Amino acid sequence: MEIIKKYVEGNKNRFLMELFEILRIPSISADKKYSNDVLQTAHLVKAHLDKIGIQNTELCETKGFPIVYGEKIIDESLPTILIYGHYDVQPPDPLDLWESDPFEPEIRNEKIYARGACDDKGQFFMHLKAVELMLKNNMLSCNVKFMIEGEEEVGSENLEPFVKNNKEKLKADIILISDTGIIANDTPSITTGLRGLSYLEVELTGPNRDLHSGLYGGAVANPINILTKMIASLHDEKNRITIPNFYDDVEIISTEERIEMAKAPFNLDQYRQELDISEVYGEDGYSTMERNSIRPTLDVNGIWGGYIGEGAKTVIASKAFAKISMRLVPNQQSEKITKLFSDHFKKIAPNCVKVKVTPHHGGEAYVSPTDNIGYNAAKLAMNDSFGKMPIPVRTGGSIPIVALFEKELGLKSILMGFGLDSDAIHSPNEHYGVFNFLKGIETIPLFFKYFNDLQSEKKIK
Ligand code: BES
Ligand code: MN
Ligand code: MN
Repeated sequence: MEIIKKYVEGNKNRFLMELFEILRIPSISADKKYSNDVLQTAHLVKAHLDKIGIQNTELCETKGFPIVYGEKIIDESLPTILIYGHYDVQPPDPLDLWESDPFEPEIRNEKIYARGACDDKGQFFMHLKAVELMLKNNMLSCNVKFMIEGEEEVGSENLEPFVKNNKEKLKADIILISDTGIIANDTPSITTGLRGLSYLEVELTGPNRDLHSGLYGGAVANPINILTKMIASLHDEKNRITIPNFYDDVEIISTEERIEMAKAPFNLDQYRQELDISEVYGEDGYSTMERNSIRPTLDVNGIWGGYIGEGAKTVIASKAFAKISMRLVPNQQSEKITKLFSDHFKKIAPNCVKVKVTPHHGGEAYVSPTDNIGYNAAKLAMNDSFGKMPIPVRTGGSIPIVALFEKELGLKSILMGFGLDSDAIHSPNEHYGVFNFLKGIETIPLFFKYFNDLQSEKKIK
């Protein structure tokens, strides 16, 4: 622990400067304009792996952006830890709400402000620096493999075939991921569940052209009016989703388990204050923490159509659009839910409009057990570095590839992230605490140590 602390303290400024260099490249995977930047980021990550002494580094080509791979096999008989992360980021807009340039990182109040600071550049980079630390101080106790992708924020479509075709290369004992968060800096936690996702786009067409709303208004269906009515009908008065059979496969959580989950600290007043809302909102019969973790949801992520320019234009638009996503829980299948939605949405549409439903990406939920070596190694590591035992917590976010890792590689993922809900990921002014960045670098080597210790203990038994 002393060696770790000393190394982190001594190299802190360099670590931050190196991270800043990565944060400066706008690796926005969703926007084609930035393709070169995404690619350049992949090259930079590879160069960093090379510099710290990782072997067999390569950019693995895919149909999209490459996956950065590298490994350090010190002894075949030691356990192998596969580290996953993503070097792509979300678009930064709305730009005018940023207090500083999203791609010109700066530290204010001990926090690094930049797009990707927390999600996920700042977090995957902790692993590179932790491995550097272990190599420099001769304390690497496990083999390590890196797999850093560039398409997480757009659904990881090309990672799936890569995983299926490279099972030997990706052979490991556990996957370690820092792409989630903790409850608070004085309340460490480990994520034990992720929600799945089903994402679609809908298009309603009314008349074949935009119409004068005076000449035609009242006589022809307005697709925007119809769309909002259809969307409103997707929840009932208890805020349950009305799509038939939607809840069929939802995992039932026992009362005991719900009581256990409710022990995680949560302050509703503070939650409301932080978001400046006077009341929370959600499905009847569930707490706020349950609503955003163990229950499925349906949300409109964007809706448009008609005239949205300056001033007024009296028009009935020909088309109306919406992007809709559903967060899913264990046992619900993304593909099945996508079909249920699609069938239902077409069924409830009146004859006066035509409906088109286009599925985007999806992914399954994930739960990780707390009685395995990986979880225990993370628990002991965090206990050492934070001085406090971490609490298991299910999050509402999704990392679809995690369920796929389990299916294809038979490996569990340990979600040992260090972000905070207040870090504004995907929002303007995303940031990551310098404390969290350094704490991560301190904790990861301890995970390696405990993972090896626990694994060899098991072997002896
Ligand atoms: N790192 C996040 C997911 C996350 C953040 C999980 C915080 C738990 C806590 C990831 O990059 C992400 O944004 N995932 C997307 C899904 C993806 C398919 C676009 C999400 O959850 O919306
Ligand atoms: Mn992420
Ligand atoms: Mn993200």
